[in-house]
Amino acid sequence: MTDHLDAGYLRQALEHDVRAGLGARPKWLPPKWFYDAVGSDLFSQITRLPEYYPTRRELAILREHAADIAARSGADTLVELGSGTSEKTVLLLDALAARGLRAYLPVDVDAVTLREAADRLAARYPGVEVHAVCADFERHLGLLPRTGRRMVAFLGGTIGNLEPAAREVFLKSLRATLEPGESLLLGADLVKDTDRLIAAYDDPAGITAAFNRNVLHVLNRELNADFDPDAFDHVAIYDEGDDWIEMRLRATRPMRARVTALDLDVEFDQDEELRTEISAKFRPGPLMAELEAAGFTPAHLYTDPTGDFALILATA
Ligand code: AVJ
Repeated sequence: MTDHLDAGYLRQALEHDVRAGLGARPKWLPPKWFYDAVGSDLFSQITRLPEYYPTRRELAILREHAADIAARSGADTLVELGSGTSEKTVLLLDALAARGLRAYLPVDVDAVTLREAADRLAARYPGVEVHAVCADFERHLGLLPRTGRRMVAFLGGTIGNLEPAAREVFLKSLRATLEPGESLLLGADLVKDTDRLIAAYDDPAGITAAFNRNVLHVLNRELNADFDPDAFDHVAIYDEGDDWIEMRLRATRPMRARVTALDLDVEFDQDEELRTEISAKFRPGPLMAELEAAGFTPAHLYTDPTGDFALILATA
């Protein structure tokens, strides 16, 4: 495993984000801090909720089209950004392995989940070099190994966590790290009925709420802070103008939290909201236009029979 996120780096990035985001109005935090070991596990539970359709839909697309994707990509190396538990990846890996896959490089911010997944897959694919890279895909694209003919998979709809400006920067820098003939497999959640979207981010079992509040547990532990996560309500709204879900934490009473490691006090008015995530929903045409603007050639669009989710194969 290559680790670009040594304790010093992580700490500095977290400190920066907390100072910037909790010092702003409205307050915000980037979603990457959800994913400590507990947060990654909560996200795995989310993927099994009846209301959370994206994982199931993406799996359905992969089940149907993985062989075609593997053939069209011609890749012998799979790089996966935000790989998490790599559960869905097995379908892609099976298809690529049938065509002479040489290496799999999962890239994730959570070292614990990453190592487990890498060990599991190394055992399953003995002929394949499994090289885990602990990194922040917004910061470390330039450091990814450049060997082989690569396909970069960015699944699950995680592209939706980036705001449009950050998305443009991300796609352009990703394109810049690829050689002509290499490819991107991009998973994107599609615009659909608002009630279904909201249900997917506000489940009655409260798993998504626990996932959302987990970011405050992470701050408490990492920065010696004293947020009371249970004093925040989980909020999921759909912004129809921007086509994105926003998750927020809403203070149920006026509060002051101390972030000891930063010598920082953070005050909340009653009902004040902290934005913890955007999850953008896409229309295929405009998304393919964004890929083109970033220098990719969108070669193929795959959707599931319900039209809920899309995978786009684009070549560099
Ligand atoms: C892992 C970013 C794809 O945006 O749907 C799930 C994270 N947040 N429920 C998403 C998430 C709330 C998820 N991604």
